Amino acid sequence: MPADPRMILLMNYYRDAELRGANLLLRLMSHLTDPDSQTKLSLHLADETRHSWLWTKRITDLGGDPSPIADGYQTRIGLRVVPRSVIDILALTVVVEERAHERYVEHAQRPDVDADTLAVLREVTKDEKWHIAWIRAKMDELAANTGGADRVEEALERFREVDRQVYAELLAKERAAFGSAEPLGSVA
Ligand SMILES: [Fe+2]
Ligand SMILES: [Fe+2]
Repeated sequence: MPADPRMILLMNYYRDAELRGANLLLRLMSHLTDPDSQTKLSLHLADETRHSWLWTKRITDLGGDPSPIADGYQTRIGLRVVPRSVIDILALTVVVEERAHERYVEHAQRPDVDADTLAVLREVTKDEKWHIAWIRAKMDELAANTGGADRVEEALERFREVDRQVYAELLAKERAAFGSAEPLGSVA
């Protein structure tokens, strides 16, 4: 039985968000030049590109095509905010990683998820916790060194507000497509 094209599209949104998450990390590579950050960024980047590959493989295994997404989660975020500092890029990364984690957990709890898709959801979810933890720690460390703790909270709040708006848009779009409560993916 051919896969539901709406599900293929949803997985392409997940794939897009993973790829754009990797792009944010590449930007951080040129800012966080200490050996510890370079090591963690390399592993983190490897995780995100692997996540995008896992979605690519799931899409093709289902008989679908991987395709670029022009109006995905991070593209919508990028239209509303421009990170102006390293703290901003780190805060944005925390917010999109939190959204990814929450979204994947929510999807995995649905009653109708097939076993192979569930395996991918579990695989990508398990990496997101350490992604959030190390980026958050690095952001706090940088802020402490520069006396910018207030900037961290301000940036997180600003990006979380944008995240809520963008995710609500994607939920509405997905509900229109599925005729139910399943939102189009937003992940990192
Ligand atoms: Fe991640
Ligand atoms: Fe990811």
